[in-house]
Amino acid sequence: MLPRHLLIWCLITAATACYKDKQAGALFTKGLFPVVFAEADFALHPKNGRRMQSSKDCAPCHETAYRNWNLSRHRVALTNELYRESHEREPSPWCINCHAPLRLTGAESKPFHEEEGVSCLVCHVRSGKILAKNLPKKATAHEYTIDHRLGDERFCEGCHEFNFPTAATAMREGHALHYTDQPMQNTVSEYRSSAFYGNVSCGGCHLFAYTEASHRFPGGHAIERLRQDLRVEVSRTSPGSITLRIFALGIGHSFPTGDLFRTLRVRVIDPGGKIAEELELRHYFEPIAGAARSSTLPLKRRVREETLPPPQLDYVSMREYALAWPAASREVITELYIDYLNQMNTMTTRLSPRITRPLIKRETHRLPQVSGADAKG
Ligand code: HEC
Ligand code: HEC
Ligand code: HEC
Ligand code: HEC
Ligand code: HEC
Repeated sequence: MLPRHLLIWCLITAATACYKDKQAGALFTKGLFPVVFAEADFALHPKNGRRMQSSKDCAPCHETAYRNWNLSRHRVALTNELYRESHEREPSPWCINCHAPLRLTGAESKPFHEEEGVSCLVCHVRSGKILAKNLPKKATAHEYTIDHRLGDERFCEGCHEFNFPTAATAMREGHALHYTDQPMQNTVSEYRSSAFYGNVSCGGCHLFAYTEASHRFPGGHAIERLRQDLRVEVSRTSPGSITLRIFALGIGHSFPTGDLFRTLRVRVIDPGGKIAEELELRHYFEPIAGAARSSTLPLKRRVREETLPPPQLDYVSMREYALAWPAASREVITELYIDYLNQMNTMTTRLSPRITRPLIKRETHRLPQVSGADAKG
């Protein structure tokens, strides 16, 4: 018989080995498993030799990265109100493995420093060493593990590309959760089918390494940037119709991408203030009948793509809509919004529309006067 404390120690070691095994090679398991640290997995502070357990420990020496990460969505991945509300509706342990992956051995069900979401440690620390893309020229501060995947989309893929689990296993994690072949988020495949693939990396547009903006990760919540990167044009195509064009400038994948509820909402308003048309650019899903208890089917499947597609050679992508418009009208007002929740949840949520559906921009487009002859024909 083993003494009790030894037995416990063995069990813990075996459990850690087991998690490590499952993670072998992959930095992130698309939410199947959390990232589990034993005491020795925390990296040592270069000056005082203590184990660094929080992103705050990195802050004094990596001030820029820390300041920007602190403003990023990665930082609030588990604590932001949109996530919290949606997790209340679907309280699966699976979600937390991406939104706050770090755990301690022996406490695998409880996130460690959950208020840090996707933290410095989640992305940069494994087995007591610092993960970096290349060995720094003067590598004196840390012990490093060099992983070139940090320089491209393979690093983001473990969290930003995954399928629907089967309906029957969606509330589980680890080997008890089974993925179907239906994409839930496929930002990485979208990127790989764009002209940016091989030219500009995900980090090139989101991470801005070695600059003042390093680690800011702007995306669907960066309203100021969206205002510049999305454009609406309106032109008169015939006396009774207009053409509306919506452009994404330099977005390296579809837009919206990522979370399945993201919608680019376009309101077309007439000079009298009436909403003449409301377009919803997004991935369209449909529930699958009888899926709820199925061990093979997802709850929903994608039936239609109406996003701004991954850009090709000119790095611009566009969608065009023909709308009926009175010949006498000289003005079109457009409003662009981004929705973070689906329509049902938008109606029942306690969050204000400023949070669930902020306005990106409102513009007035002038139309040329239609000549008398044209107006008649
Ligand atoms: C006492 C200061 C100090 C602390 C604390 C510190 N670092 Fe560093 N770090 C450095 C220095 C200095 C370098 C430059 C390279 C070298 O000297 O090894 C560096 C390099 C790095 C690099 C590689 C940079 C590159 O050019 O690719 C990464 C990544 C990194 N640190 C992450 C972290 C993380 C994550 C933490 C917290 C868990 C942390 N560091 C804590 C001082 C520190
Ligand atoms: C450990 C998992 C994980 C990794 C690795 C990861 N992300 Fe994220 N990322 C997330 C989660 C979760 C969110 C959503 C946070 C939230 O709730 O708003 C997110 C949000 C973002 C956002 C903001 C999206 C928005 O709508 O505002 C961007 C941009 C982003 N990630 C880019 C990247 C890039 C680029 C990489 C690779 C260099 C990467 N991420 C690696 C998990 C991860
Ligand atoms: C979502 C994952 C992710 C998170 C979170 C993250 N990093 Fe990074 N970091 C990266 C990647 C990927 C690179 C490599 C970029 C490259 O060289 O192309 C990088 C590069 C770096 C570098 C070298 C480049 C630079 O701009 O200084 C440092 C230093 C660094 N990280 C420190 C940190 C610190 C400190 C934190 C927490 C405040 C942190 N990182 C959080 C993914 C992350
Ligand atoms: C050529 C630049 C570029 C590349 C490459 C790129 N992105 Fe983006 N991404 C953007 C822009 C631009 C936005 C919209 C925010 C903005 O205007 O800054 C965005 C938005 C996002 C969002 C929020 C999407 C939404 O629908 O709200 C996520 C998540 C994201 N990117 C992740 C990634 C990941 C992961 C990769 C690599 C697989 C990647 N991006 C590659 C430019 C890029
Ligand atoms: C495989 C990793 C992964 C899993 C598992 C996962 N997410 Fe996410 N989630 C992400 C990433 C990456 C993003 C960022 C994409 C974007 O912003 O468009 C995100 C974004 C979100 C957002 C949008 C947050 C915002 O700031 O607008 C919500 C809400 C969300 N997830 C809820 C959940 C819930 C609830 C679950 C479990 C039922 C879950 N997620 C499971 C990776 C994951």
